[in-house]
Parts: sequence; structure tokens; C-alpha cells
Amino acid sequence: MSLLDTALTRQLGIEVPLICGAMYPCSNPELVAAVSAAGGIGVVQPLSMIYVYGHDLREGLRLIRRTTDKPIGMNVLIERSSKMYLDRMKAWVDVALEEGVRFFVTSLGNPRWVVERVAPLGGVVYHDVTERKWAEKGLAGGVHGLIAVNDRAGGHAGPKSAAQLVDELGDLGVPLVCAGGVGDEAAFGAALEAGYAGVQMGTRFIATDECGAHADYKHAIVAATESDIVLTERVTGVPLSVIRTPYVERIGTKAGPIARWLLRGRRTKHWMRTIYALRSAWQLKRASLAGGAREATSKDYWQAGKSVAGIDRVEPAGAIVRRCAAALSVSGTARTARPRA
Ligand SMILES: Cc1cc2nc3c(=O)[nH]c(=O)nc-3n(C[C@H](O)[C@H](O)[C@H](O)COP(=O)(O)O)c2cc1C
Repeated sequence: MSLLDTALTRQLGIEVPLICGAMYPCSNPELVAAVSAAGGIGVVQPLSMIYVYGHDLREGLRLIRRTTDKPIGMNVLIERSSKMYLDRMKAWVDVALEEGVRFFVTSLGNPRWVVERVAPLGGVVYHDVTERKWAEKGLAGGVHGLIAVNDRAGGHAGPKSAAQLVDELGDLGVPLVCAGGVGDEAAFGAALEAGYAGVQMGTRFIATDECGAHADYKHAIVAATESDIVLTERVTGVPLSVIRTPYVERIGTKAGPIARWLLRGRRTKHWMRTIYALRSAWQLKRASLAGGAREATSKDYWQAGKSVAGIDRVEPAGAIVRRCAAALSVSGTARTARPRA
């Protein structure tokens, strides 16, 4: 059996244990379709699909289906859920199920309601986690696998390394996916060798022909080295991994004193987070799509993780999937999470 055959590929019916992670504002239908068509699995980010790329969710899913009938996934962000947001998210999950989506990646909060909707239809839910207590909460909610977000990830990185997470979560009896820091086929192979059943990549897939992000953003990823990646609190109130542009250098990476004080208060933290969520959605969307007519570096936040180190060109997404598959062509043992001690 080859390393291509893992608990993840079997569960999802895909050929390569490689997920293109959901990315606000970088997930567009063409990117999701290209990754799935090549044998990995692309994950739709509904907010990005609707509010960045202007597709109605159902229409966007059908657009993907015109390119490939292979499995795709959808991201379900659960936390910060006002009733209105939660109702909207539930409606999106229903639309996705009606359109044949059977893989869901939940982030933050309790994924139970997603599992209850998805599992009876034969669907699979993986939960993003950064440490064991969130993994246990996700498993109590019935999830089928875990995405272990490590300290090298793009977006909101976790506090622990990929090696620490495979140790900490390896005995939980479900497939583990490595998210963070994987930018090339060597790192992909190493993650599977370490005991992961698959890899979720984000940053690598921004620097692709199909990604809708601005060309300047893609080239900044190619040009960046690991030491150009910094964590800033100024976008969402919690550390977000971005490229250190002149703008980021100028305004710093710490939240201002008033924001920090409001984030500490039991009541004020909720509306401070709402302000951050609304503002960051706009800022990140603008940074991803803008450029062209104006200086692309002026006030932009370009999210990226330390995997920039392994990214040396903008290329078709399918080429990345195929290179990763080829790197695993040597035979090995099929992996789930590391067996219980
Ligand atoms: C630009 C960007 C936006 C992201 N947005 C989301 C998101 O909306 N939801 C989510 O669950 N994860 C999000 N992530 C995390 C990715 O899905 C993935 O786990 C992460 O990028 C893996 O790390 P890597 O960038 O080092 O490959 C985002 C990552 C990036 C780089």
C-alpha cells in the first residue's frame, strides 16, 4: 500500500491526501475545482464565495461542478454566532448538502449541529483544532477527523508544532490532518511519514493561476522568506499570520490599548470582536483583490504562513497536487493517526 492510501483518502473518496484549505478571501470556485479535479479536495469558504467573488452559494457550487464532479468540501465557521449568523450558516450547509457536498470542515465552537445534519446523509465532518481540549470537544460533538492547525500555519496559527500535535492528538482514534507550514512536496511527504493521514495547505494554493487573489499578493508570497512572516493582532484582535509589508512595519502588530482593554471585558469583548470581524472582512477582501490602479503595498494585509519558504513560483493548482502525489509514489504503510500506545 502507498502513502497515498490513507484514512482520509478512503473516507472522502479522493486520490491524494491533500486538502486545499478554506481561505477568506482567497477561496474562489475555480481554485476549489482545480484542486479537486487533480485528485485532492478543495474546500469552499462560503463568505469568500458570496461576499468576495459575488456568487450565490448554490450557483458557485454548480460552477465548480461544471469543472469537476469529484468531491469538494465546505468550511463552517461556528463561533461568534449571533442567531442570524447561525441561521444563515445552517441554510448554507443545507444548500451544500442539496448540491452534493459531503465533506465539511468546522472551525471554532461546537460542531455538533453540523454533524447532526451531515452524518445521516453519509457526510464527513473534520474539526480544526490547535490543542487537545478543542479536539476532545470536537470529538464529543461527533466529528470524524481532526485538522491539527500548527504554529507555522497561515491564517490563525496555533501555539504548537506539527510534531507536538501528532503526539498530543495521535491517540484519539480518528484521522489527523496536518495544517501549517507545508509548501512543497518534501514537507508534504514528511507530514505523512510523521503519522498524519493528510495535509491541508493554504498559502501554497494562493500562489496559483486559478486563485482569485491579486497578482501582487501571489508574487509577495513567492518572494517572501520565513522571516518575513509575522503575527499581527491588528486585523482580527487575535494573532493572524501575515507578510511583513512596509505598512505592517509602520503600524506595528499589537492591538491598541483601548482595543485590548475592550477585548478583556466580559461584555465588551463580544462587540469588540464583532467590530474586528466586520473590519477585517473588509480589509482582507480589499487587500486580496485590490492593487492594480493603486499601490498594492500601501495598506494591505496579505495573510500567509511560514510555508512561503517552499514556494518558488505561481503555477497551476493541479501541478501542485500532482507533484505531491508523485512524491508519495514510493510504497509505504497506510496511515491513520499514530496508533494508541
Ligand atoms: C489567506 C488565508 C485565509 C484563511 N482563511 C480561513 C478560513 O476562512 N477558514 C478556515 O477554517 N481556515 C482559514 N485559513 C487556514 C487554512 O485553511 C489552512 O488551514 C492554513 O492555511 C494552513 O497553513 P498554510 O497556509 O501554512 O498552508 C486561512 C489561511 C490563509 C492563508
